[in-house]
Amino acid sequence: MELDHVGIAVGKLDDAVPRWRPAVGGADVPYEEVGGQGVRVAFLSAGPVEVELLEPTRPDSPVGRFLAARGEGLHHLAFRVPSVDAALAELVRRGDRVVDRTGRAGARGRRVGFAHPSAFGGVLVEFVERP
Ligand code: CO
Repeated sequence: MELDHVGIAVGKLDDAVPRWRPAVGGADVPYEEVGGQGVRVAFLSAGPVEVELLEPTRPDSPVGRFLAARGEGLHHLAFRVPSVDAALAELVRRGDRVVDRTGRAGARGRRVGFAHPSAFGGVLVEFVERP
């Protein structure tokens, strides 16, 4: 598995993007609302890996609840896999918990799926399948 991006929960993209852009470089980045997840995201390029900034669009969304409980900070690591469905199925097969049983539509038209943090020592892990 190759590291694809690092997800960071933020209160406001308008505050976080200018703070992160000098560190990771890159030009203006578009914001994208991820349908159904109650989150807006911006990806900043950092070499072969990206930084994904996540802003909740409503307090009862997963990222909104994360912010309320823990504040801004590291939210998840995302790994590129050939098949999100196969990666999730492998976790289920070995008895680990998953957030998503199968892949779903993520940002930028990519198929994504989340493991439960208990599967990776308390770290929320996302699988990403690039088209
Ligand atoms: Co992500």
